[in-house]
Amino acid sequence: MQIVATTTQARNDIGSDFQQFLDESGIEYAPRQRKSLEKIRRESQAEGVIVWERSGPVLYWPESKFFFHPSMAKVRIALYRKKGQVDPLVEVCGLEEDDLFLDCTLGLGADAIVASYFTPRGQVVGLESSLPISQVVKWGMRLYESDMFWLQEAIQRIKVINCDHRTYLHQIADKSFDLVYFDPMFREPILKSQALSPLRKAANNNPLDLETIQQACRIARKRVVIKERRDSSEFSRLNCEEVIGSPNNKIAFGVIHIG
Ligand SMILES: C[S@@+](CC[C@H](N)C(=O)[O-])C[C@H]1O[C@@H](n2cnc3c(N)ncnc32)[C@H](O)[C@@H]1O
Repeated sequence: MQIVATTTQARNDIGSDFQQFLDESGIEYAPRQRKSLEKIRRESQAEGVIVWERSGPVLYWPESKFFFHPSMAKVRIALYRKKGQVDPLVEVCGLEEDDLFLDCTLGLGADAIVASYFTPRGQVVGLESSLPISQVVKWGMRLYESDMFWLQEAIQRIKVINCDHRTYLHQIADKSFDLVYFDPMFREPILKSQALSPLRKAANNNPLDLETIQQACRIARKRVVIKERRDSSEFSRLNCEEVIGSPNNKIAFGVIHIG
């Protein structure tokens, strides 16, 4: 997928953060020179253009845009802070404050942020195989500012790595994380999921494979957790021992207990 990056109309200089973003991502730089994004896109024969805005990178497609925002995670954490309502992910994972949590499918990072908030003495590592998604989310997280200190802190402790989880899982030692989590693109998407629609264009849609789940069981100390549609046959295909969900929720979690 060809993507280029540029500045806003108001700026032509490349600041140090943007330069670092270009260096580490290898994404080609297209000087703005007061051109429209559509013109840059056509001239570079790119599918999308990333604009380096003050609050972080924004990926523009011809008809939509994608940028990091923590809105869903904020709502989920606020439900706990205001009403003591425990998030289903936290409950299913049995998260404890010093847990090491590996999110193998980072996406927009909502689940990773919730996990990070509940592991203040642990660590969340998020893997994302799509280069544009990982870079937009990584830098969006890094530059995110909020007067809600608890949210900013949870976001900025997350370590984002651009790689395929199949490669990463092979490289790390047994029992390196307490929880290993997967939330792949669903085999049958829930079309109303507004939160994910800007992400779909760049996302990796491959199904999880059994070898990946075996590797996850090797490196997890407590549980491997998979999110899918409640009625999905993926849970049995991937050898989940238990499926946890509620009848009024289309989404459920498959769990494999370790040890
Ligand atoms: C449904 S989204 C995850 C949403 C995320 N849980 C959230 O809260 O925002 C799935 C993401 O996993 C990524 N993905 C799929 N297969 C992957 C793989 N093999 N390695 C790393 N990331 C992968 C996709 O590109 C997509 O961004």
